[in-house]
Amino acid sequence: MAKEITILGSTGSIGRQTLEVVAAYPERFRVAALVAARNAELLAAQVRRFRPRLAVLLDVERAGDLAAMVQDLDVQVLAGEEGLKAAACLAGVELVVAAMVGIRSLAAILAALEAGKDIALANKEVLVAAGHLVMEQVRRSNRRIIPVDSEHSAIFQCLRQGGRVVEVLITASGGPLKEMTPAEMAAVTPEQALQHPTWVMGPKVTIDSATLMNKGLEVMEAHHLFNLNYDQIKVLIHPQSVVHALVRYGDGSLFAHLGPADMRLPIQYALTWPERWDLDSRFLDLTALGHLDFAEPDRRRFPCLDLALQAGREGGTYPAVLSAADEVAVEYFLGGKIPLTAISQVVARVLEEHRPVASPDLEQVLAADAWARGRAGEVAAHISSTGAESR
Ligand SMILES: NC(=O)c1ccc[n+]([C@@H]2O[C@H](COP(=O)([O-])OP(=O)(O)OC[C@H]3O[C@@H](n4cnc5c(N)ncnc54)[C@H](OP(=O)(O)O)[C@@H]3O)[C@@H](O)[C@H]2O)c1
Repeated sequence: MAKEITILGSTGSIGRQTLEVVAAYPERFRVAALVAARNAELLAAQVRRFRPRLAVLLDVERAGDLAAMVQDLDVQVLAGEEGLKAAACLAGVELVVAAMVGIRSLAAILAALEAGKDIALANKEVLVAAGHLVMEQVRRSNRRIIPVDSEHSAIFQCLRQGGRVVEVLITASGGPLKEMTPAEMAAVTPEQALQHPTWVMGPKVTIDSATLMNKGLEVMEAHHLFNLNYDQIKVLIHPQSVVHALVRYGDGSLFAHLGPADMRLPIQYALTWPERWDLDSRFLDLTALGHLDFAEPDRRRFPCLDLALQAGREGGTYPAVLSAADEVAVEYFLGGKIPLTAISQVVARVLEEHRPVASPDLEQVLAADAWARGRAGEVAAHISSTGAESR
């Protein structure tokens, strides 16, 4: 019988690749619901191709356009939060692919778990901001989160050995700026920073990869997903992006996951787990690669990494604040309003001013997120207008 899935964020990079995986195995998967934020045109085209029962646009004003575009099809169209929740909890769905950006889908993911769905999780901001709430709901509902992020998928696969885990090593390509001087980094344009050397991804995660904020967020993700303490998670620069993560066991064995830089691989594994199916991906040619390099990250040139690790260690609402402030700062950078090097300044200032809540509930997480967005906007606007950090 086909596995019914819902995709939150079907119009994004992960969402589109999830649909490619589904299209490769049409008899094994059935798309039950698709959700996007604003892109009514692409969502309508996806509805026409994959024929879900439900299509949701978060943007209430554009939902009418979507409904008009698919009016000849047998599909229900909903809008906003209500639609998002309905898609996440739709009866008959086994797996919800969480692939939106930010934490807008947090409540829907919690509701999906409560409704008995497993989650294929790409949306890292949700775990960063509210990992304790999500993992608690996973335990309570006796459900699973199957990671989609390539590093976490790699860890997930390497953890199947059994034995005492000493540490996990998460690799980072180092991004497009890894050879740049601080002055060059300050002058980098959004176009340059968006040229990731090994992965093609959405704009936010690509900029986070350039600043290494992404690795910090991934460490927090790993902390929650695999119940590891922060001393057990290391970051390694590995420019070839061939080894996605490694797990070291108590007997000294180091298990690594190697694979092509193709997100369809971890997406498909999350959809088919515990099975492994064929994928028409380019196989790795180890002799052509010749060598694999590993190095320590340069924490001075990439301060976002330590900002994230510190927020993770401090916990409470700090990670939610870091993630929200970063999202706003990245938007300012992509809009050409602040330099790339100001992203860490915005995030650091907002963290400094934050009054944390120790074990926040959902409302407190959302309140911290909203506060951080507002304050990050003010700090970034100040930098944008004066070229100096706000005091
Ligand atoms: N791309 C990758 O290779 C990759 C790898 C690992 C992890 N991830 C994580 O996966 C998630 C999705 O990344 P992506 O690269 O696929 O992003 P993306 O290409 O920018 O797509 C984002 C998706 O979220 C929707 N969206 C846009 N703004 C939103 C908002 N404010 N609230 C809720 N949804 C919104 C978009 O809808 P519209 O198109 O309608 O705007 C789209 O469907 C992120 O958390 C990212 O860190 C991505």
